Amino acid sequence: MARRKKIYEGKAKILYEGPEPGTIVQYFKDDATAFNAEKKDVIEGKGVLNNRLSEFFMTGLTSVGVPTHFLKRLNMREQLVRSCEIIPLEIIVRNYAAGSMTKRLGVAEGTQLPRPIVEYCYKDDALGDPLVTEEHIAAFGWASQQDMDDIVSLALRVNDFMSGLMYGVGIKLIDFKIEIGRVFEGDFQRLIVADEISPDSCRLWDIETGKKLDKDVFRQDLGSLTDAYTEVATRLGVMPKQP
Ligand code: C5P
Repeated sequence: MARRKKIYEGKAKILYEGPEPGTIVQYFKDDATAFNAEKKDVIEGKGVLNNRLSEFFMTGLTSVGVPTHFLKRLNMREQLVRSCEIIPLEIIVRNYAAGSMTKRLGVAEGTQLPRPIVEYCYKDDALGDPLVTEEHIAAFGWASQQDMDDIVSLALRVNDFMSGLMYGVGIKLIDFKIEIGRVFEGDFQRLIVADEISPDSCRLWDIETGKKLDKDVFRQDLGSLTDAYTEVATRLGVMPKQP
């Protein structure tokens, strides 16, 4: 088999050139990192779980009319996605206070927010992905006003879909991060949800017990990360129940 051309290697994924023009193969690694890669480990099976879960969420989003980069899952660790120009922003939606918001604003972890809050971070590992405002985004030309309107609308639709899905299996969607890409169709530009949606990029708490079922298990040394992700996958019916 011909060697594939690696396009990019990130902390948790590798991107290879896809078989057709305009496609990319996204490979999910087992590497886990936190605190801008200050904490690192290899967690066997994490990549497989995130590949399946991201497929599940992206397919669900497509079915409710939210455009995504997902085309098909190729195998246990790889999926074929549409190539797009990633907007250099991490779009974070929060329903309950946690993580950096609790530190920044002193709001107690778990406090329900008056409404979903959308935040933006500039994607730059060397700078630690700093929080930015729409003023920075407009001034530095990272996205236009029209893009920002579309980004907020996409982010809130993803929030509605993911919150409902999770609520149905007894899980509270605390917050999540998405990335958005541009695709060009003739003279038109369309924004699509790209990268991944998985327990690596969401905070998920059991509604009854408050148990954390996301990457905070790794960040805060709360036990087995794969057990937590498997629990999410099993509740959603993505993975068969363990005997
Ligand atoms: O750390 P913070 O509280 O700002 O994270 C908010 C949400 O965004 C969390 O669900 C976290 O997992 C996700 N996130 C991410 N990648 C980053 C930063 C945050 O997936 N680089």
